[in-house]
Amino acid sequence: MPRHTGVVHGRARYGEAVPRFSDGSAGDADYGVIGAGYATIRQPDPRIEAVIWEALGDARTVIDVGAGAGSYEPRDRYVTAVEPSASMRAERPADRSPAIDGTADHLPFDDDSFDAAMATVTIHQWPDLEAGLAELRRVARGPVVLLTFTPEVPEDWWMPHYVPELFAVEAARMPGIDRIVAALGPSTTADIVPVPSDCIDGFGQAFYARPERTLDPEIRRAMSAWTFVEPEVAQRYTDTLTADLASGEWERTWGEFRSKAVFDVGLRLIVAR
Ligand SMILES: C[S@@+](CC[C@H](N)C(=O)[O-])C[C@H]1O[C@@H](n2cnc3c(N)ncnc32)[C@H](O)[C@@H]1O
Repeated sequence: MPRHTGVVHGRARYGEAVPRFSDGSAGDADYGVIGAGYATIRQPDPRIEAVIWEALGDARTVIDVGAGAGSYEPRDRYVTAVEPSASMRAERPADRSPAIDGTADHLPFDDDSFDAAMATVTIHQWPDLEAGLAELRRVARGPVVLLTFTPEVPEDWWMPHYVPELFAVEAARMPGIDRIVAALGPSTTADIVPVPSDCIDGFGQAFYARPERTLDPEIRRAMSAWTFVEPEVAQRYTDTLTADLASGEWERTWGEFRSKAVFDVGLRLIVAR
């Protein structure tokens, strides 16, 4: 597992306790290696965006932690982005505010500095989940809004069938909903976010109705879990899926997935008020 191989460049600051990869990445994935081109694949989907923005309520000021290239940041509010990876900060489009270099476990802001906090598809990478969630809670007066995946995935889905190793990695990384609720308090809610079959956001699970898209190495690069499986596993996945798509085996066994309008791949909206 390529964990912190380029290690600490000595720029930890503001009391951060987490080790960094050479580009500043502060989670379990090195975005100095996989970050290039990320923003072109991980575009916000408007239907997912709508539920996040609604959860932010009437917040005028929002902190986005683990902000990456800025997916799902509202454009009609004042957003402060925090992102440890220089590669990911460089992916931010020109119409997004520049991100501050920082980590979730030690946000350089006073208590109650923002109306709301958000963190999308990032908490599974934080070395100290509870410290990060406590920081979101501390700096936000209003809702803390998370978008994350459950450790469990649907059993009757073709992708875990083809590459169980990938989902074993994700199951170990993704915190359970109970753990998140315990950290954020009893008023926390968790709701299913159904993923549309034509989802614009290219997270790996979004392609349940478009299996051929996962054969594209750029698509796989935007799903950090692939960096934790052996290259032979990825090769076996692409070889087997390619063969099954060509022979019609995939259509015979899993073809119903093409006609699903939405599917629950484990994506959840978590809101602590
Ligand atoms: C999968 S990307 C998601 C980016 C963006 N929020 C989105 O939804 O597209 C995960 C992000 O979390 C960041 N991250 C990892 N560990 C972190 C930490 N300890 N504190 C803050 N951000 C972290 C990574 O650098 C990366 O940009």
